[in-house]
Amino acid sequence: MNTREMFKRAVAGGYAIPAFNFNTMEQMQAIVMAAVETKSPVIMQVSKGARNYANATILRYMAEGAVAYAKELGCEHPEIVLHLDHGDSFELCKDCIDMGFSSVMIDGSSLPYEDNIALTKKVVDYAHQYDVTVEAELGVLAGVEDEVVAEESHYTKPEEVIDFATRTGCDSLAISIGTSHGAYKFKPEQCTRDPKTGKLVPPPLAFDVLAEIEKKLPGFPIVLHGSSSVPQDEVDTINKFGGNLPDAVGIPEEQLRQASKSAVCKINIDSDSRLAMTAAIRQYLAEHPDHFDPRQYLKPARENMKKMYIHKIVNVLGSDGKLAE
Ligand code: G3H
Ligand code: 13P
Ligand code: ZN
Repeated sequence: MNTREMFKRAVAGGYAIPAFNFNTMEQMQAIVMAAVETKSPVIMQVSKGARNYANATILRYMAEGAVAYAKELGCEHPEIVLHLDHGDSFELCKDCIDMGFSSVMIDGSSLPYEDNIALTKKVVDYAHQYDVTVEAELGVLAGVEDEVVAEESHYTKPEEVIDFATRTGCDSLAISIGTSHGAYKFKPEQCTRDPKTGKLVPPPLAFDVLAEIEKKLPGFPIVLHGSSSVPQDEVDTINKFGGNLPDAVGIPEEQLRQASKSAVCKINIDSDSRLAMTAAIRQYLAEHPDHFDPRQYLKPARENMKKMYIHKIVNVLGSDGKLAE
């Protein structure tokens, strides 16, 4: 299904739909198990990098398998969106639409404003012929956005959003209010340090900018990228068993909880899944040096990701129990 009704209900209901990236079968299985157990709608998203890694055709059929698997697990009417994350060209978006994706993102955020509008509108015009919904982006997140390199981040300008949404016809808008991609969202000099734990405490998101945007576009679906929280227990496990992730820091869950209650109706999480998977694998291999069957270490990895997904759905985004029927 596409995101239209899903987002309408999420905005009205004060919760957000989880958008989890997947590259592997274990991630896909964990996402489906978590969504079914919590009776949550879910967006399964695929990046250009995921298509390069796993093969576009395989991922497309994995998503079809995900729907069948959800039914097999007892969910009569699963609500699963297959979404392209950070599409960087019309051709990539078209390819996904032609392959059966129900939603695409065209990320023109690094382009000049008018070029972003023109590219987004071109994708919207094509996508809407097939009832595929389109996410656009305005404002630049810090760091590297997949293939889209942002040299400097800047918050979304509230004064631009009405013009942008009207002229492009996009169905949802990703904004920049201080989140960023990856496991190192803030430099130590942007944070304070908790004297007890020595851990970094990040600066708060720009909720004033979000409020301004909501005022300009009441009820319009807003998306937050770069919303992993970088759970410190997973970081500690990785570091304990041979990893090296000093000062990894994410968005505090309390702030995501707050954002979910607003017009933010899609929250993107990828890095937390990577951390959950890596922590479980590192621990398993360190404790079982004689094991070499991938099923032995991928099983706890899948369990750990499922636990994380359920936690996000139930305790952070609030999308549990929100299936239409
Ligand atoms: O926003 C980026 C996502 O985390 C996808 O990352 O391009 O490494 O697959 P990727
Ligand atoms: P994280 O790196 O914070 O998980 O963000 C993922 C994302 O925005 C995917 O588009
Ligand atoms: Zn993103």
